[in-house]
Amino acid sequence: MLARFEHMKKYFGATRAVDDISVEIGAGEIRAIVGENGSGKSTLLSMIAGILEPDGGEMFLDGQAYRPSSQAEANRLGVSMIVQEISTLPGLTVAENIMLGREREYTVFGIRNLRQLNRMVKEKLERAGLMEIQPDRDAAAYSLEQRKLIELVRAADVEPKILMVDETTTALSQTGREELYKLMRNTKARGSSVLFISHDLKEVLSVCDSVTVMRDGVLIDTVPTEGMTEEGLKNMMVGRELSGHYYREDYGTPISDEVVLEVKDLNCPGRFQNVNFQLHRGEILGFGGLSEAGMHEAARAVYGMEYDVSGDVVINGEKMHSVKDRLAKKVGYISKNRDMESLFNQASIRDNICITCFDKLAPKGVVTRRRMTRFAKEQAGLLQVKMRDTGQPAGTLSGGNKQKVALSKWLACDTEIFIMDSPTRGIDVGVKAVIYGLMEELKNSGKSMIIVSEELLELIGMADRILIFKNGEISGEIERNKDLTEEHLVQRMI
Ligand SMILES: Nc1ncnc2c1ncn2[C@@H]1O[C@H](COP(=O)(O)OP(=O)(O)OP(=O)(O)O)[C@@H](O)[C@H]1O
Ligand SMILES: [Mg+2]
Repeated sequence: MLARFEHMKKYFGATRAVDDISVEIGAGEIRAIVGENGSGKSTLLSMIAGILEPDGGEMFLDGQAYRPSSQAEANRLGVSMIVQEISTLPGLTVAENIMLGREREYTVFGIRNLRQLNRMVKEKLERAGLMEIQPDRDAAAYSLEQRKLIELVRAADVEPKILMVDETTTALSQTGREELYKLMRNTKARGSSVLFISHDLKEVLSVCDSVTVMRDGVLIDTVPTEGMTEEGLKNMMVGRELSGHYYREDYGTPISDEVVLEVKDLNCPGRFQNVNFQLHRGEILGFGGLSEAGMHEAARAVYGMEYDVSGDVVINGEKMHSVKDRLAKKVGYISKNRDMESLFNQASIRDNICITCFDKLAPKGVVTRRRMTRFAKEQAGLLQVKMRDTGQPAGTLSGGNKQKVALSKWLACDTEIFIMDSPTRGIDVGVKAVIYGLMEELKNSGKSMIIVSEELLELIGMADRILIFKNGEISGEIERNKDLTEEHLVQRMI
């Protein structure tokens, strides 16, 4: 056995995030941790990583007491973690990020040798196949996926005894995932262990040896993945049988001729070219492709958020000039980068939800706190946001619950056109079903949606049409049909 965690506890006020959990992990074991949003997975791993101080419990690594007082110390003791939200520091270069806490390795007589640093890190990046990332550029210049990969290089570089990966795969495209799995397999082959949080149960069953299930801060069970099914895991997670369908089940449903949004010759140098398409009333339009194929940037540009863009976006016959124009047309955008672009982390859940709705909540310009609280509570309830109350700062929610608030904000204000980048990133299987159901309802009531997603099954399951992005261009279009498989899409993407 490599490590043992006994009676671990972490409370936030009245919230028992982790409530007396004991687990062991063997050497060379890849262990998944699964559970609904807010069940305490990130909190448990953060204590092991030295990021959060436990309120109780004892930890042992290699038979010795293990009590890291900081993340840096945990690193030195052989424990590293790729956290759920982004942890590269803006303002530091890629190289400085990767070597954080290890400045001594490139400092001589108190002077940092940046040439040496950059050379060292360039090698590390190249070994991981990341030729396009420059060590001396600000980490903030890179996309979410690239920053995740930078974190991956950092975590791998210390050759940890325990590597922890928190809900990372949904931020990665297929190639990034392969890199991550490779890192996990290498870690296992060295006789070290991996703790892996994921909501993708298929992935859990295929890459992990065993799985620990948590519910509401307590441990339900640890079982081998061999012989386990997705259904079985789901039932353990939620504590009851899940029934009903997941994705849409209709095929051949006619789409209205009415065009609500038209994109003409959209170009952005180095990111995408010649993007042309129409979105119809009541249509769900998917964008699929490799992460760097331009689909994320194209969606941002449709909302008016990219620089250097030429071409037109026309909504209900009117040409758009700014984000404000889009807001007036009731267009909502959900970013993949939720901590930086979707939420005000310091503000309450209430304010985050109400911010889009003041014309509805305060038609005469005055609104009471009570009205806002009632409204926010109602809206958060629709997506089952797990929270203490609506006054809780959004930043203290679990990852999946943050995503629900980001969605709520646009659902609450009667949005007509949704542009959603990775809408279900980090959301557990139960609530995913709720969200897919909602999307179907929205569609049936004539709302239109663009869904950008790395999850091919989500596109296949929900979209009326899928536009395939390849090298910055739309390279093909696929109509909804019953026989569509992930392989069909992948073939067209690469
Ligand atoms: N800093 C904090 N302040 C208050 N409550 C917190 C804080 N951090 C976490 N919590 C609460 O602790 C509980 C467990 O959160 P945690 O992030 O561990 O969940 P999780 O299992 O990782 O969920 P997800 O799948 O959504 O990421 C949640 O109810 C969350 O709101
Ligand atoms: Mg989490």
